Amino acid sequence: MEIKDVKVKILGIVGTPIKNGNCQYQLEEALKQAEATGQATTELVHLRDYKLTFCIGCEKCMRKVHKIQAEVGFDVTPVPIEGYNCSIKDGLDELHQKMIEADAIILMAPVYIASIPGQVKTFIDRCRTFVHDFRLQDKVATAMTIGFFRNAGQDTALELMRTSLSALGLNVVSYGSAAVSTREGLGVPIRETRFAVKEDLAGAVMMDIAVKKLVRIAVRIKAGKLALKEISLGSE
Ligand SMILES: Cc1cc2nc3c(=O)[nH]c(=O)nc-3n(C[C@H](O)[C@H](O)[C@H](O)COP(=O)(O)O)c2cc1C
Repeated sequence: MEIKDVKVKILGIVGTPIKNGNCQYQLEEALKQAEATGQATTELVHLRDYKLTFCIGCEKCMRKVHKIQAEVGFDVTPVPIEGYNCSIKDGLDELHQKMIEADAIILMAPVYIASIPGQVKTFIDRCRTFVHDFRLQDKVATAMTIGFFRNAGQDTALELMRTSLSALGLNVVSYGSAAVSTREGLGVPIRETRFAVKEDLAGAVMMDIAVKKLVRIAVRIKAGKLALKEISLGSE
């Protein structure tokens, strides 16, 4: 097998209250570019399709992780947890499963007041189990954002997402990408285009770099694991 034959799964998660908006459009484009490498299959999920409620801080996920660690040893990673590990049953189990099955994750969210929308923060908080169980430790991730203005919160939104993805145990492999949904990022909406982000060449270039790096590193991690299996060193 050659490295060009290795294929990875990319999960794109978009968190905005708006269906079919700029963020969704841009993430769809990112996933198309990933597929165009010939080495990725992709899936997009929209957080609006999930009715997520806030983390209630019950600590049940942590207690379960620690109980299993006490049995198998604290140096065993990933912690062998069977399935979903949150006390709230609101459909998030399906999304956690998709994250576990992916090789790479893209988190896309618009800039909301120099930060991210509350829905996205809620989603991140509800992923707390991954901080402690290391089930995402061999996966890569990147963050993407879109704002009205070129420089009005993209950096802080990206930084928040990159740090959060990293805290969840993912390997953040690039700066990410930022784009604008107004002409030249001047804050004037383009009425004649449904997706103003389409016109943002700078945003498209940044996205292209982030996607290619994501696929490249995910493929190399997967190839490394396959090679380890081949020479019988085990897969972890
Ligand atoms: C509550 C709210 C706060 C926003 N705050 C900012 C901001 O701080 N900076 C910015 O550039 N754009 C801001 N925007 C604009 C959005 O980031 C922009 O419209 C983006 O394209 C929305 O993505 P969507 O089309 O996928 O919903 C804000 C929009 C809303 C609704």
